[in-house]
Amino acid sequence: MDLCEKLVKRDSELLSPSTRVSYFPLAVAKAEGTKIWDLDGNEYIDFLCGAATTNIGHRHPRVVEAIKRQCDQFIHNTLAYTYYEKAVELAERLVEITPGNFAKKVSYGLSGSDCNDGAIKLARSYTGRTKIVSFLKSYHGTTYGALSLSAITLRMRRRLGPFLPEIYHVPYPDCYRCIFNLEYPDCGLYCLGFIEELFDTVIPPEEVAAMIIEPIQGDAGVIVPPDDYLPKLKKLCEKHGILFAAEEVQTGFCRTGKWFAVNHWNIEPDIMILGKAIASGMPLSALVAKREIMESWEAPAHLFTTEGNPLSCAAAIATIDVMKEERLYERAARLGEYAMKRFREMMDKHELIGDVRGKGLMIGVDLVKDRKTKKPAREEALKVDWRCWEKGLVLIHFGKSVLRIAPPLTISEEELEKGLQIIEEAIKDVEEGKVPDEVVKRMVGW
Ligand SMILES: Cc1ncc(COP(=O)(O)O)c(C=O)c1O
Repeated sequence: MDLCEKLVKRDSELLSPSTRVSYFPLAVAKAEGTKIWDLDGNEYIDFLCGAATTNIGHRHPRVVEAIKRQCDQFIHNTLAYTYYEKAVELAERLVEITPGNFAKKVSYGLSGSDCNDGAIKLARSYTGRTKIVSFLKSYHGTTYGALSLSAITLRMRRRLGPFLPEIYHVPYPDCYRCIFNLEYPDCGLYCLGFIEELFDTVIPPEEVAAMIIEPIQGDAGVIVPPDDYLPKLKKLCEKHGILFAAEEVQTGFCRTGKWFAVNHWNIEPDIMILGKAIASGMPLSALVAKREIMESWEAPAHLFTTEGNPLSCAAAIATIDVMKEERLYERAARLGEYAMKRFREMMDKHELIGDVRGKGLMIGVDLVKDRKTKKPAREEALKVDWRCWEKGLVLIHFGKSVLRIAPPLTISEEELEKGLQIIEEAIKDVEEGKVPDEVVKRMVGW
């Protein structure tokens, strides 16, 4: 047995199955920039980025240096009782890069999940209202608040209730697989009208504290709303005094070709929920909200002993500086356009590809059994993931059968192209029946 398989075996004996959606036995020995090496010395191009987290690549020298420097000063002094420079310096950057020319404040956490819980609490505290509107197929994380908001798979809900009360799930504008079987723009945004209908009949809007929405749904399979949806949703919120909370844990930090996805629609959210790429993989999340909103709660309403850890803050400052200096939002937009064009060309040759969508380097390639029925080709997606891994590309799928294209924003044109070629070869191999059914049995997948 090789070293990767051996570690996977030891791991499965000891680690909880709740933590891993398993695809292939990739045991990481080292990662640098856009590359990963496993314990057996195999080299991979990384199209996963630790789940859209290492946006500036693994172990960026500026991040490594910042962490080392902070390590030499202190590793921990809780923000609950002390003050330190890095937490304030980072907050200054966050209020600067997030949309909205108004006074803001920041609250730190450790994960995207806790940040979603924070948003629920903050919205309730500020408005004095209890209800929250969330969206079908959304993924917000696994703490109880985040779990209660999420509506992507029963696997994360079965036997775990009761959940947080007063959370209402409404359909997300998914124009490829419209839940109402309508077509945009003839539908007249029926899904938005549906929310208004609920506000007229079952959910008193004056009791709704916030709508929490991913501006582009990530784990659902990169669902991009039509262009007029989010601006109209924001107006609906304003009409009823509902806070608009942009859940940018996955879409933030240049991933979609702008600093944040809401920038595509010029939306200024009341609350921003940030995580993942903020600190290049160090544990950190941040709620950024209008000052008056953030001043509505008191300690310890939302406090964690290791929140805003100095090492994480130092990593985040370096990460944001690299993104800014290298204008990675522009690079993501440019490379994303190229990749989308290449995938659209692949559609002409490969019936398995039903749809290609995304913004910047957040791209979903939707594999279908049949382009007419749009039935997700789940086994085929698993086989493509497996074949890519065998060929030296780390790629997974989500949303049942949507290949998740999320390389580092620093990837070179040549490496990006190499990755795209591997994906095309893998799709061809799967279409030609060259990937055995047995591999699917050992994979879990979304
Ligand atoms: C949109 C979104 N929100 C929240 C989370 C949860 O973040 P974490 O796993 O850091 O708690 C994720 C993780 O995938 C996510 O994609």
